[in-house]
Amino acid sequence: MSGVVVIGAQWGDEGKGKITDFLAEGADVVVRYQGGNNAGHTVEVEGKKYKLHLVPSGILYDDKLCIIGNGVVIDPKALLEEIEYLEGEGVKVTPKKLVISDRAHVIMPYHKILDGLSEKKRGKADIGTTGKGIGPCYTDKHERSGIRICDLFHIEVFKEKLKQNIELKNKIICDVYGGDPLSFEEIYDEYINYANRLRDFVFDTSVVLYDSIKKGKKVLFEGAQGTLLDIDYGTYPYVTSSHPISGGVCIGAGVGPTMISNAVGVCKAYTTRVGKGPFPTELFDEMGDFIREKGFEYGTTTGRARRCGWLDLVILKYAVRISGLTSLAITKLDTLSDIDEIKVCVGYEMDGKVIDYFPASLEDLAKCKPVYESFKGWDSSIEKAKTFEELPENAKIYLKRIEEYTGVRISIVSVGPARHQTIIINKM
Ligand code: GDP
Ligand code: IMO
Ligand code: MG
Repeated sequence: MSGVVVIGAQWGDEGKGKITDFLAEGADVVVRYQGGNNAGHTVEVEGKKYKLHLVPSGILYDDKLCIIGNGVVIDPKALLEEIEYLEGEGVKVTPKKLVISDRAHVIMPYHKILDGLSEKKRGKADIGTTGKGIGPCYTDKHERSGIRICDLFHIEVFKEKLKQNIELKNKIICDVYGGDPLSFEEIYDEYINYANRLRDFVFDTSVVLYDSIKKGKKVLFEGAQGTLLDIDYGTYPYVTSSHPISGGVCIGAGVGPTMISNAVGVCKAYTTRVGKGPFPTELFDEMGDFIREKGFEYGTTTGRARRCGWLDLVILKYAVRISGLTSLAITKLDTLSDIDEIKVCVGYEMDGKVIDYFPASLEDLAKCKPVYESFKGWDSSIEKAKTFEELPENAKIYLKRIEEYTGVRISIVSVGPARHQTIIINKM
């Protein structure tokens, strides 16, 4: 086994951070390959909670190499703050432990401003972004006007690119949106300072990864966001601007598909979504509130209340297909304890027919009514369970149905936020 990908199978916040941290014990290298600090990955170890946004979830171990790949968009200010926060918590973040790709694109102040302004302009049709400048930064990357980490170390190149960008962005900010112009000098000085502080962390991460794999090291790729937020496969346009799916790894980390042997889909035992967009199994009643409070469903990055609903197996099957998932990690099973009747969506009724695939068109999706199967709940607490056998019979039936429907085995069940509240059910 060389490379294992951990991806979100829903709309993000599935517990990827927790599962990555758990699996990292048996890995040597942990890599983020897409997204940016729109991600919020919570890891709980020995009663202490760590909130990670850009730094891979392997950082809590002393002997793991963490990599931020070229596919990530990096806000240097946010990254430096995160490094400071981790150091403050007693977690060492040195250039020996963290390497940042010189090809990654840089989130600039105008990206964050444009993120906010374009959301405002969309009005009621806003996406509900995290406001971190993710979309505008990826836009510049694909428009071929972006600034990369390596540019920060070539002062003349950086100066020229920044000048051109500020000139154009100021026109857009002022003339299109009626905002205030940005100062070249301020941003230039600020970013040169960041560059100097980050210099020792920067390298060609694809080289580091390739060498590690050739030496037989085990690599974990940590996805951010989730399948339904993927720019191609998600509920477009209510998506993020990158590829959270397993296919994103090759592009975003600079490795070939032959270097990946397993793909683990992390999936909550129910569904949540933060931000706008369709969500077929969303609950608007007391059950939705119950799940939100019991599961403490509030965003790690923005603190927003997450929308909650029943598990949607149509979505999970879709994630299995799109990412070629080889196993599932089911998280937050403990949140479902003490519910009499648990429902699971096994199809959508659309135009009088039941379908089990996820439609592309939001108009079709709006017509879809979830078809539910009901399961008896369990009232015993499961937070201390260490094996599958120790789980209540009804919880086992619930998990078995997930495997049966998706055709993929569950490798891990998580019964609490802590590292030790994790049950290995099958080999990955
Ligand atoms: P990520 O973005 O996919 O890493 O997920 P987040 O960290 O944003 O959200 C998951 C939340 O659920 C975090 O607060 C975790 O500490 C917590 N969590 C993860 N697994 C479990 C679990 O099995 N049970 C409970 N109760 N909480 C969990
Ligand atoms: P993790 O890695 C949940 C959502 C936002 C919004 C949409 C676009 O913690 O699972 P963006 O700022 O990316 O342009 O916002 O995507 N979103 C997430 N939702 N978890 C995340 O990350 C998310 N990152 C972005 O709420 O709906
Ligand atoms: Mg999160």
